[in-house]
Amino acid sequence: MKKIGLYLCILFVLMSCKTSPKTPIIDVTKRGLITDNAMVVSAREEASKIGADILKKGGNAFDAMVGTELALAVAYPYAGNLGGGGFMVYRTKDGNIGAMDYREKAPLAATKDMYLDENGDIIPDKSTLGAMAVGIPGTVAGVFEIHKKLGSLPIESILEPVISLAQNGVIVTHKHEQRIQKYQPYFPKANKDSIIFDKHWKASDTIKYPALAQTLTRLMKHGRDEFYKGETAERLVKFMQDNGGIMTMEDLAKYEPQWRTPITFNYDDLRIISMSPPSSGGICLAQIMKMIEPYDLASYGPNSVKSIQVITEAERRAYADRSFYLGDPDFITIPSKALISDAYLKDRMSNFSFNKATKSEDVSHGKVSIVESNETTHYSIIDPFGNAIAVTTTINGAYGSKLYCSDLGFFLNNEMDDFSSKPGTPNMFGLIGAEANAIAPEKRMLSSMTPTVVEKDGKLLMTLGTPGGSTIITSVLQTILNIHEHNMTMQEAVNTPRFHHQWLPDVVLFEPNSFPKSTIDSLKQKGYTTNEERSPVIGKVDGILVLENGTLEGGADRRGDDTAVGF
Ligand code: DON
Repeated sequence: MKKIGLYLCILFVLMSCKTSPKTPIIDVTKRGLITDNAMVVSAREEASKIGADILKKGGNAFDAMVGTELALAVAYPYAGNLGGGGFMVYRTKDGNIGAMDYREKAPLAATKDMYLDENGDIIPDKSTLGAMAVGIPGTVAGVFEIHKKLGSLPIESILEPVISLAQNGVIVTHKHEQRIQKYQPYFPKANKDSIIFDKHWKASDTIKYPALAQTLTRLMKHGRDEFYKGETAERLVKFMQDNGGIMTMEDLAKYEPQWRTPITFNYDDLRIISMSPPSSGGICLAQIMKMIEPYDLASYGPNSVKSIQVITEAERRAYADRSFYLGDPDFITIPSKALISDAYLKDRMSNFSFNKATKSEDVSHGKVSIVESNETTHYSIIDPFGNAIAVTTTINGAYGSKLYCSDLGFFLNNEMDDFSSKPGTPNMFGLIGAEANAIAPEKRMLSSMTPTVVEKDGKLLMTLGTPGGSTIITSVLQTILNIHEHNMTMQEAVNTPRFHHQWLPDVVLFEPNSFPKSTIDSLKQKGYTTNEERSPVIGKVDGILVLENGTLEGGADRRGDDTAVGF
């Protein structure tokens, strides 16, 4: 009897272990754009093209980053920005890695309870709509710092095409027309005067941005201080205060971006390089991937019931830790090493069973000891030298706080909503936070942005990332798994439907009309609550894969106007 038990045990271990190495069967007909030397994939063709042109004239990925980021501020005001912030992860041609944090900060006059009324209840819309929702923008400081340290071309040759784009205008796509119409009712709530987006723009109209062109021209002439100490700063602060905001000249003058050390970890033969706090992206991705690594996802198949279960359960546990432990590392101590240690994560998954869903009410944050020591956009770039970058940038909600500075030509973020305004109360992505992510003057709000670079056998394999609020981490994860475990092409990996779980609310979100009824029914039977109706778009991934022969494959998300451009 004992012997049979032992055999069964060995059989079970073998069955749940990974079958490695895998024989790749890749459907090459599903490849995206292929180029020999370089590529930029972003949310708008105009921005990808400006980035790719910079590479063509000899610039490196960092020059192209500056051009693409600012071109998105012109061509994609929904998320591209001067009034927001972001994160960049990079890997140079020599294998050096690093990260830039140009996340917004809370103003000096911010207080922990600034979004609560006298009864301690959240004041509706205050952290999302209008001037009080705005964090101190970091984008201009970020791109100028990246250019100073890692760029190679003169700033004029990068900014001139962006300024021309703003002057000549951008053609409205069908998706842009729909977005403007959807959010138009909110613009008068945040703005005293009418703004350029109040007009009934139709697809194929051209919108020109003369005020933004002038702002960009001043930045080109006077550098980053123009935005933080110069005339632009003065005009911005006046505008914010006229609209009831608390941003001051001191806030802008004190803003500094930070170089950070990325989070790195291994998964099979991959090395993942992702964003460190104040983004939760890298740590959560590491936790989820390490929790699922022992399971044979390749044999379960993509989006199979078993794959969805393993991933959901790992996400449930990682998002519970996110909500308790993560925040701005300049303000709190984060037990990063412990949170991504093998022993801790093995223990965390020890109560998972394929028979039955774990309930989120039974999952809290794990116990580790603290040792002293809906809108965003992502773009990926690989240059002809072999430098790779992944950048995710945001003003948070669609058109940020909806507050548009017509004088300067850009929307202001509503990133303050990424703080935990009240412990236990969800923010606009349903995320719950604790003390670690409470508001404090000059603190950075916790993010989910996950710009990520992946190596295989010590060589560059992929760069990717996505918008999508709390679903960002999930989308990056599933895209990497689609390529590594399921042998998909980059474009196919991006196109494949996605699902998401974030601990609370205890529900698995599925992209609508994308999963078979039998899969959903089977999960329901095991005790999972599912939602296919209200599910937002789960991510909009833009990535580049290095193929075995050294060529590049772009994956531009079909869910948007995203486009890969290269040569
Ligand atoms: O930093 C964050 O996690 C959020 N502000 C990102 C917002 C976002 O992705 C919205 N896009 N759909």
